[in-house]
Amino acid sequence: MTSVIPTDLSASPIDAEPADAAFATILRRRSMGLSRLKPDPVDRRIIERMLEAANWAPSHGDTEPWRFTVFSGEGRETLAELFEAAHRREPAGGPARGAQEGARKRAFAAPVWISIGMSPARKEDGSLVMSEEEEVMAVACAVQNLHLMASALGLAGMWHSKGVSVDPAVARGLGLEPPARLLGFFMCGWPATDWLTSARRPLSEKVHWVESR
Ligand SMILES: Cc1cc2nc3c(=O)[nH]c(=O)nc-3n(C[C@H](O)[C@H](O)[C@H](O)COP(=O)(O)O)c2cc1C
Repeated sequence: MTSVIPTDLSASPIDAEPADAAFATILRRRSMGLSRLKPDPVDRRIIERMLEAANWAPSHGDTEPWRFTVFSGEGRETLAELFEAAHRREPAGGPARGAQEGARKRAFAAPVWISIGMSPARKEDGSLVMSEEEEVMAVACAVQNLHLMASALGLAGMWHSKGVSVDPAVARGLGLEPPARLLGFFMCGWPATDWLTSARRPLSEKVHWVESR
């Protein structure tokens, strides 16, 4: 890959090597869902590295509102129970057998699941230090860091934010009571398929430069 740093900046403090490495990782990051993950376990140190990267995210007021729970190995039985709890709210009063099996199958469909929680900083009177929106944005920064590190380490994964991944019963089971929120799960594992490629619509559609008047 050629350097993205213009040569006329070579005398500046910008170091092309880390800038190019950062951009290469940004380009490599792809969302890869359950069907693209191998069942093989992932070494805990790999996950810890990703979580360390997440923990270096910015947050307004240094609130650091990201909260993660990692489910792997037999720990996924606990996750299956949480997914079942989401079905338990159905009118019948208890999960149908199919739903129970579905919950278990889903929990074991990835070797590692990381719940993405947002726990806002609060003042003594219980009010929020920062707006909920800012706290959610900080968590998104943390997840991006996590995903970038996963990609750099060759681990495939995806942020899932629908259905049971944001279910209130699952949130409760994770201790994320309001004003805390469950923003989804990051599921990951070694890639079982080719690494995905992607594209973006032109930047010119999204950027407006104002350089003189
Ligand atoms: C906040 C957030 C939530 C997402 N939720 C889902 C989801 O529920 N299901 C899904 O298939 N993809 C989900 N994605 C992944 C996007 O579909 C994906 O980022 C997009 O298609 C671009 O692909 P890329 O990540 O490989 O660049 C989510 C991404 C973000 C940032």
